[in-house]
Amino acid sequence: MSNKNFYVTTPIYYPSGQLHIGHAYTTVLADIISRYKIENGYNVFFLTGSDEHGQKIETKAKEAGVDPKTYVDKIVVGFKELWKELDVEFGRFIRTTDEDHVEAVKKIFTKLLKQDDIYLSEYKGKYCVSCEEFLTREQMDESFIHVVCKNKAIDFSEESYMLRVSKYQKFLVDLFKTNFLVPENRKTEMLNNFINNNLEDLSVTRVTFDWGIKINESDKHIIYVWLDALSNYITALGWGSDEKLLKQFWSKDSEVLQIVGKEITRFHSIYWPVMLKALGLKTPDKLLSHGWIMAKNEKMSKSLGNVVDPREMIKTYGSDAVRFYIALNLPTDNDGSYSDELMVESFNTNLANNIGNLISRVSNMIIKYSNGKLKPVDISKSKLFRSAQDTIVAYDKFMNEYKYSKAIEAVLELGNLSNKLIEDSKPWDLDKQNKVEELNLLLSELQYSITTINYLLKPILVKTYEIMMNQMGVNIKEINKETVVKNKIIYNQVSEKLVIFKRITI
Ligand code: MSP
Repeated sequence: MSNKNFYVTTPIYYPSGQLHIGHAYTTVLADIISRYKIENGYNVFFLTGSDEHGQKIETKAKEAGVDPKTYVDKIVVGFKELWKELDVEFGRFIRTTDEDHVEAVKKIFTKLLKQDDIYLSEYKGKYCVSCEEFLTREQMDESFIHVVCKNKAIDFSEESYMLRVSKYQKFLVDLFKTNFLVPENRKTEMLNNFINNNLEDLSVTRVTFDWGIKINESDKHIIYVWLDALSNYITALGWGSDEKLLKQFWSKDSEVLQIVGKEITRFHSIYWPVMLKALGLKTPDKLLSHGWIMAKNEKMSKSLGNVVDPREMIKTYGSDAVRFYIALNLPTDNDGSYSDELMVESFNTNLANNIGNLISRVSNMIIKYSNGKLKPVDISKSKLFRSAQDTIVAYDKFMNEYKYSKAIEAVLELGNLSNKLIEDSKPWDLDKQNKVEELNLLLSELQYSITTINYLLKPILVKTYEIMMNQMGVNIKEINKETVVKNKIIYNQVSEKLVIFKRITI
């Protein structure tokens, strides 16, 4: 077993309805980085799941005339089906109704209560039921409408256990001097609006509804969703019971990456590090807080009713194309858009015209001019070979900074260079002039460049990867990072003439 460990998590999503492309965005990013790290020799644990308790789910179930567990069971089946269709391969799908999670959360509560990090009090304030969030003044407009989801906040006053967040103010200020939260600009918002603005303790129990984890210490309190939900990242690794996985993946010898949408940055960058500190555990190495997918200038969300169904997209374009669009066209540091027009444009430009076309041109030429197999030749002095090597370095750098879009752009640039080399050096003329050696060298460079492109896109194009490699005469069982970097690839006969990524016309 390698000594490099990597733990990547997504938020656990509310099963209050089916998932949309926004959820697919986060989860596909996590899957891509998981596959990339596995390829690079890491032991990887990838966690996703569902956040099943709380008032909103309780109400939805009541409306549907079923008990909450029956209600969520059905929806969660749909979550798992979607991840399968999108080739998302996780290590565990945690449900907050899983017995081990429930037991561990009770234990966490008891431990924090005993340490006096949790205390009993009376909470008064404004609350957004839809987002399960207590709101500060800045989060609402003058009519107390929550600016994110446009629902009216309710007045809230009840006996509640509180997490002593305020005690950790200095810890948070120090934490925010590091670069654990990316992108940088989210830091300022957290510091100005919360950490340096009268940092309040967090209510962590409720007494007015039932659907949640009961605490051991009292019959009437149930744990308020965020303490329950955030804990999933460590209960999934066995916190408080069999801690083998926790020791491996939540330790100083492991890199921990948590990916979330920007609206829950507050919970993940403030309350979660406080909980971890109180439990004696490290803060995640990186919290990647990505922007939103927008639809007509508003956040795409269930409550605004403007969502795109990823299942429809997969049916129309295939899962690889959806994964590719997410990684390339939705850079994490900004809000992004999705529309069918944008999808088709990106597909045609990048997958059909650049990569697909390159593969079919070169494989056709290898068949036509060299009967499907090139003569071995030293390509190490060629410009395209050096560009391919530089691309690998750039791609790795960006992937390790979780800049997916930039990593793919680097690969596409290699595709452009390869296409341009064909235009400039006109292999058909070399053939006519009988320049056999020159033609063989040119096609060999191109074959290497394409194999490199294919290999780098492996974490993204899960289904097409093998077809792309076969078309270059490469057996995927015989290829890995080393064979690509050191140019030790074995090429078999190129015989297939498939059209990969056929242009879409609408
Ligand atoms: N259950 C909480 C998270 C608890 S984590 C301990 C929750 N669930 S959610 O179902 O509302 O999912 C929110 C997450 O879904 C976002 O943080 C983001 O990862 C993803 N997205 C939902 N809509 C999105 C967009 N329109 N754009 C980008 N991501 C979106 O919050």
